[in-house]
Amino acid sequence: MLPPLTAHAPPARGLFVAFEGGDGAGKSTQARLVAQALQGRGLRVVTTREPGGTTVGAAIREVLLHGEHVAPRAEALLFAADRAHHAATVVRPALAAGAVVLCDRFMDSSVAYQGAARGLAHAEVRQLSLWATEGLVPHLTVVLDVDAASAVARRGKEPDRLERESLDFHERVRAGFLALAEADPGRYLVLEATRPPRQLAEAVLAALEPQLAQVAADQGAAS
Ligand code: TYD
Repeated sequence: MLPPLTAHAPPARGLFVAFEGGDGAGKSTQARLVAQALQGRGLRVVTTREPGGTTVGAAIREVLLHGEHVAPRAEALLFAADRAHHAATVVRPALAAGAVVLCDRFMDSSVAYQGAARGLAHAEVRQLSLWATEGLVPHLTVVLDVDAASAVARRGKEPDRLERESLDFHERVRAGFLALAEADPGRYLVLEATRPPRQLAEAVLAALEPQLAQVAADQGAAS
């Protein structure tokens, strides 16, 4: 298990929330529901994702998810390359402008998939991400937890290269996310992904509530 990232503080401006979980956990739905709720309160929100949150990232995503076999270290480096460009050109500028950034997957996906499931050293994979993003860490990481077998049933589209991995691989992914959350409970919110989507979104909003007043005040001051 990795130690908590105590040496890395989240950005001073904006609010950065990562949604994590296995394939089929419902991250994109949650990011969308939370974005709608926050926009309904007049907040500026940027919803984005990894891999593929930029034009460069879309090309990397295609290689990673719809191409041939990729060697594990190349896979880790490609996800990190996507993240480096995404952090520098989308996430950091939005946070610097005071926005709420909701990101569908971030660095913990690399630790869970390339580390826990693929077998690369967790600490090295995390370090690679930190190097790629110059130490960018979320204020809150929401882990949508679901067992691997139920997640398969929830996916319902043509599986991509990673979704085609074994149930065992996906159970290791799940264990990877849970271990990260367990090691640093202050920065994580673990939710049972099978709960009704609106209830889950409310739980996320409740966890963000203490920080939203400051974000709203900053955004109001800037506009
Ligand atoms: P995702 O966009 O969530 O898939 P989809 O939109 O098809 O539901 O994620 C793409 C896949 O990439 C997913 O299987 C997880 C994997 N992944 C990693 O293995 N490492 C990473 O660092 C990231 C960001 C994603």
